[in-house]
Amino acid sequence: MGAMATKQPDNSVDVDNGEQLAEPEHEHTVVDEQHDGDDDVADQADATNRPEPLLTRDGSPAAALWSLNSRWRHINHGSFGAVPVFAQLRRLAYLQETESAPQRWFMAAPERLAQAREGLADFLGVDADRFGFVPNASAGMTAAIRALMLNVGDELLITDHAYGAVAFSARREARQRGAKVRTVPIELDATPEHILTVLGKALAKKPAGLIIDASTSSTAREFPVVALAELATKHGVPLLVDAAHAPGIQHRPAEGIAASAWVGNLHKFACGFRGSAVLVAEKKFAKNLYPIIDSWGMDEPFPGRFDHQGTFDYTPYLASVDAITGLEDRIGWDSIRGYIESLLDYSTDVVADALDAASGEESRVDVAAPAPGMTLLRLPGTLGASHDDAQAVRQRITDELGFETQVTSFRDTGYLRLSAHAYNTADDYERFAEDAVPTLVEWSRER
Ligand SMILES: Cc1ncc(COP(=O)(O)O)c(C=O)c1O
Repeated sequence: MGAMATKQPDNSVDVDNGEQLAEPEHEHTVVDEQHDGDDDVADQADATNRPEPLLTRDGSPAAALWSLNSRWRHINHGSFGAVPVFAQLRRLAYLQETESAPQRWFMAAPERLAQAREGLADFLGVDADRFGFVPNASAGMTAAIRALMLNVGDELLITDHAYGAVAFSARREARQRGAKVRTVPIELDATPEHILTVLGKALAKKPAGLIIDASTSSTAREFPVVALAELATKHGVPLLVDAAHAPGIQHRPAEGIAASAWVGNLHKFACGFRGSAVLVAEKKFAKNLYPIIDSWGMDEPFPGRFDHQGTFDYTPYLASVDAITGLEDRIGWDSIRGYIESLLDYSTDVVADALDAASGEESRVDVAAPAPGMTLLRLPGTLGASHDDAQAVRQRITDELGFETQVTSFRDTGYLRLSAHAYNTADDYERFAEDAVPTLVEWSRER
């Protein structure tokens, strides 16, 4: 990755009371387990592909940068992420700075946000004047959907892989404006070529807009967004890309995507704070793009008006940039991405083999174009087959089995979605295969 444009943060706190923050004491994830040869699951898996725990540039375990409680194995980075301790301390420092002189803080906030955008531009692969901060992907997509300014009778297209809450936003906006949302079904194993054919035909009918997820949440697959953006441009149809998972797991994720709007969360693979996301917009589309909170920046051009969202906690935006630059400094994003890929390859096999052996069913799923950072395995029987059941199974896995993982449903089938990050180790997934999988199969048989 290219050099970051911002100054690297230090962890000292420059606040008026002069207090120095200490790194909090936490139970860290166990990081230094070596494969001891006695472990059934690891023995059955291809041990040559078993990644050693990731190390920082100074040779210490990467996991020690986080404050995850080892009582739960966190193998669901894709949902809520996890913030390293050095960035938590930066956020605390910003909060202390706010509370030491609130007026001074808020007067300077827009300028600091503009600087923070400069610091993020290279990481995202777009110029700083092409994107604004939004609180989350939902806010960014809501703002982009509003900017379509749907008219009575218009048709807005989504696919059946769209993130549920974003689909709700599309339907609400369409309903209020007398427009319609049409859902285009896409098979789980549809190839990128097939998707381009199906959506190409739909675009030729000139809908008012198309919403596409770059990496889908319930099905952990990719959509060919670069080619879709070209197709949408050819047909003059605004394309809104929900790339909630992209920052961090993709190198310069927004680069070269000619979409009207593109939204990415900073709290997922980029390891920033919940409450921080970016909305990238094409120049013409940006003219009608306003934050969902109207405020004093109203008359400023995009993206300046997104630097004003009323009296609001802006610290997640600033500290998320510190998380990103700090991880480049301490580990390097290319190393993190390489590690995630090899760890997921290995652990998907480990968990899939365990599921297949215990259930007698096939858990591996062909998603044609797997999303980076996440993999999908089919759950046995009817486990997780509906949205509500998926949520209930996920809760049971956390409460009864001690793993934070994601369970999704798509077309009446339940899936386990695994993800990984720098702090995870092969042992996390081996433990899941050995300790959780037999119970999951038992639950499926009790039904
Ligand atoms: C594809 C996709 N879009 C949107 C969202 C919503 O993100 P947020 O809850 O941060 O708004 C998510 C969250 O997981 C997602 O996976």
